[in-house]
Amino acid sequence: GAFTARVLTLFPGMFPGPLGDSLTGKALSDGLWRLEALDIREFARNKHRTVDDTPAGGGPGMVLKPDVVGEAIDAAMADATGDRARWPLLYLSPRGRVFDQAMARRLAGAQGVTLLCGRFEGVDQRVLDARGVEEVSIGDYVLTGGELAAMVILDAVLRLRPGVLGNEASTAEESFSRGLLEHPQYTRPQVWEGREIPEVLLSGHHARIAEWRHAQAERLTKERRPDLWRAWVNATQPDPAGEA
Ligand code: ADE
Repeated sequence: GAFTARVLTLFPGMFPGPLGDSLTGKALSDGLWRLEALDIREFARNKHRTVDDTPAGGGPGMVLKPDVVGEAIDAAMADATGDRARWPLLYLSPRGRVFDQAMARRLAGAQGVTLLCGRFEGVDQRVLDARGVEEVSIGDYVLTGGELAAMVILDAVLRLRPGVLGNEASTAEESFSRGLLEHPQYTRPQVWEGREIPEVLLSGHHARIAEWRHAQAERLTKERRPDLWRAWVNATQPDPAGEA
């Protein structure tokens, strides 16, 4: 069935944004996924529709109120029968666990996801604790709000859903999903500004090409991402039992 992306935001007009173009946009209009951008302000009950208040203890900025966000989450997590949806509930925040391809695969296996986007100084901690919200970061930098982070996560998840990639290329065979960076790519002309396409790629020897690409993926990973390289070596050449 279709994957549901339910987004809680103060700026529903930001969606689908870039997700409405290209492969994710085609998939959206083909009904492969559904987008529900819900305005957090709709869940504010007072006449001024207040969603935030000053931080307890003082300090700059504003904090999203737990009563408003609690109501928004409860609405966003209810399924058609009123039961709680059995899919992940994420809050985008630089304090969260850093998003990676394994998380993308887990989310792509669910029926949907609810993404809570904060603004200002964030959301009252009590509502995150009370609703069992999972905090997720897209990296060690600070955005003005969670919306762009939600779009990044949705893009990474949607491309793993069946039918979203036009050419049906297997995402299981991507070298990144095996833990290495991708090998370099080339296309015609055969010589450009005096630089040639590596000869092996023009040889037609599929086994040698695969070998060359794998060696390049290893080289790039070793050079650029020692963290990924160490993890890959540990996973593919585990220490023999009993050795240090
Ligand atoms: N909101 C603000 N910065 C963020 C980040 N780096 N990741 C996720 N959500 C955020």
